[in-house]
Amino acid sequence: MLEFNWKPDKTFPIPLHLQIVGYIKEKISLNEWTIGTKLPSQRTLAELFEVNRSTIIAAMDELAAEGIVQGNSGGGTKIINNTWNLMNQNYNWNGYITSSNHQSNHMMIQQIDTAESDPNMIRMGSCEPAPELIPQDKIQGILKKLSVSSQPLGYEEPKGSPFLRKEICKYLKTIGIEVNPSSVLITSGALQGLQLISLGLLHANSIVYLEKPSYLYSLRIFQSFGMQLSGIPFESTGINIKKLSEKHNRKRGSILFTIPTFHNPTGTVMPVEKRKELIHFCEKEGLPIIEDDVYREIWFENPPPPPLKSFDNNGLVLYVGGISKNLSPGLRIGWVVGSEQVIARLADIKMQSDYGSSSLSQNVATELFASGLYQEHNDNLRKKVKVRRDTALTALNEHFKDIATWNIPTGGYFIWLKLNNPLSMHQLFAKALNRKVLVHPGYLYEFHSNQHIRISYSNATLTEISQGIRILSELVIEQL
Ligand SMILES: Cc1ncc(COP(=O)(O)O)c(C=O)c1O
Repeated sequence: MLEFNWKPDKTFPIPLHLQIVGYIKEKISLNEWTIGTKLPSQRTLAELFEVNRSTIIAAMDELAAEGIVQGNSGGGTKIINNTWNLMNQNYNWNGYITSSNHQSNHMMIQQIDTAESDPNMIRMGSCEPAPELIPQDKIQGILKKLSVSSQPLGYEEPKGSPFLRKEICKYLKTIGIEVNPSSVLITSGALQGLQLISLGLLHANSIVYLEKPSYLYSLRIFQSFGMQLSGIPFESTGINIKKLSEKHNRKRGSILFTIPTFHNPTGTVMPVEKRKELIHFCEKEGLPIIEDDVYREIWFENPPPPPLKSFDNNGLVLYVGGISKNLSPGLRIGWVVGSEQVIARLADIKMQSDYGSSSLSQNVATELFASGLYQEHNDNLRKKVKVRRDTALTALNEHFKDIATWNIPTGGYFIWLKLNNPLSMHQLFAKALNRKVLVHPGYLYEFHSNQHIRISYSNATLTEISQGIRILSELVIEQL
């Protein structure tokens, strides 16, 4: 990941292109940018450094003349040499990095991950609950209680703590899923659940059908192992089942990934009748489903319909849930629910990867469920998140009325803003970052989209939400 948290200073007596040369050389000399690293395009560099393209060309010419970079006909410029490396004989890892199985994260996601840690940033990209939404005092109370208990912190069973799995089963019953603890696997967040499914159940040619747009497009966990993502058109009620049926080619090893409840990024909720229809279709076609349900508890007026899993009589649905969105992402507690055969397979892969999730986190989660604090906290959380959603909607009505349309979420953390006119999202993102506003360009969730922005109201303060949306509107209007 190349870091660009610096810009040349126009007030300095040193020409801008030489300042850029100096910055790039410094990155190379610190071994932050290694030989073989590809630099962004000239256009992107010009946007990142906020200079004219001619300044970038002059800087690249200078670096090329010193033998530090080399351009190629495909338009990429690579770092090919550095004197510091020659002196130190530092090993060039690039061949290993680029030939490993796992793909790098989206360049933009890497940039976002770095920007997230800027304390002055208005974080409207993140779907992490704000500190005030995390029940710190309750967790502290539990930690205190655990500190005097005699529970050993050894390895847990392959499927995870039996106490936690039992509590999760009780909770699942309240949302319509009746299973035994042997059908539940504790994972380190929902994301690990998805990763285990990709490693343990799919093969290099599997096709993963998914909504278009989808959160899954922003990850590389399936593509890294050769699986293909196949986007299915989306409508106001969720995935278009007719289109899914047209696209589904009955290839062995295919699977459907769906977020039917408070979909990321659109906030959509699939109505109950369609849930039944989808299950019926998948049963008929023998197409298994990964149901990602991590936003379920964050509803505002009415609870969402029961999960797809509750209508599944054949063990076709792998249900992925967790507490990261509604309680604490840092505890890294998630779960996968499926047939015992599948759960045993995933547990085996998990044992091979990490010997189980943190027992301390599992003990905390067990207490949260068993004491009733989980439900109590959710009731509280919903009220607070609704205020955030309303603040975002008020600001949108004030600033985006004439230039965009958007959904009114009934739960979850997202507003999927559709600009009336397409524009360069790269440019908008860079300008917003410069004004300390972090949002997610829609193309992270739907390749080539240049009309959508995902706004999250989970993390920024109320003042920041209003301010961030106002700044964003100014930048959009500037670009129209
Ligand atoms: C739909 C969806 N699934 C899974 C995750 C990952 O959750 P966790 O932090 O529990 O791994 C996210 C987080 O952004 C998400 O939006």
